[in-house]
Amino acid sequence: MKKLFAVLGNPIGHSMSPVMHNDLFSFFNIDAHYLPFQVQKEDLLDAVKGLKALGAGGFNVTIPHKSNIIPFLDGVDELAASIGAVNTVVNEDGCLIGYNTDGPGFLKGLHAYLPVIKGKKVLVLGAGGAARAIYFTLAKEEPQAVDIANRTIEKAWSLIKDCPYSISSSALSLAEAEKKLADYDLIIQTTMIGMSPKIAEQPIYLDNLSKQTMVCDIIYNPFETQFLHDASKKGARIQNGLDMFVYQGALAFEKWTGIFPDVERMRENVLGQLGGK
Ligand code: ATR
Repeated sequence: MKKLFAVLGNPIGHSMSPVMHNDLFSFFNIDAHYLPFQVQKEDLLDAVKGLKALGAGGFNVTIPHKSNIIPFLDGVDELAASIGAVNTVVNEDGCLIGYNTDGPGFLKGLHAYLPVIKGKKVLVLGAGGAARAIYFTLAKEEPQAVDIANRTIEKAWSLIKDCPYSISSSALSLAEAEKKLADYDLIIQTTMIGMSPKIAEQPIYLDNLSKQTMVCDIIYNPFETQFLHDASKKGARIQNGLDMFVYQGALAFEKWTGIFPDVERMRENVLGQLGGK
């Protein structure tokens, strides 16, 4: 019988996950189908119960449900619990267990550009859910330091305080970060600034950026944000958010099926959905 997989979010119409995962299911001859469901906050518990009752193999969770879903699950793994957000749920013999593949997906995507994080100085821009997943994941890689710059500096401090792993970190204002950009080996932009329709905006100016620094943006639509465009003009190596998206999906697929899929195939699929780049 066909197994059901899903993504729950609101809005969900533009999600690239259904086409990406359905292509993998048919490529591997797995009798399964992945569907998007638009779910309001007040309906989330019913949606989770429904998927469980239907025997769904698993599902993804996206904005705005990544944190709210936790009490509705039967269990949550250690990393997802510390982050306080779940993006992947696996039906393990009738128990729904939550995982977070966003941070590990970012790290796997980064490896092709920067194989070793140990000893590196990192700056994370933003202190929301995505920053949290990335910060906690990087903290386990023994970087020299990971600083967090955020418009609301208190949120950066609370992120640092919440981190269960031992790591050297400071919270900075965006203006402070702008001044010391050259100190970092890696800068990761995690805010929504630069996304359509406000594509001309960027969280900080990059006048002080060194060309030795690797610069990432978790946005992939637009394919090159203004932030990445400026970083590239300064001679820095850049990476957009497509790898993170593809790898978080690959890690979810592996949890559901035991197969780690071909990420190049997934990337081509998403690029096709974006209209080719
Ligand atoms: P996500 O879960 O996708 O990371 P979020 O939790 O809403 O989204 O976090 C959004 C991040 O973008 C926050 O760091 C936010 O800064 P604040 O903590 O000060 O709100 C940042 N952000 C959003 N709009 C911003 C803006 N116009 N200028 C600077 N930072 C902004």
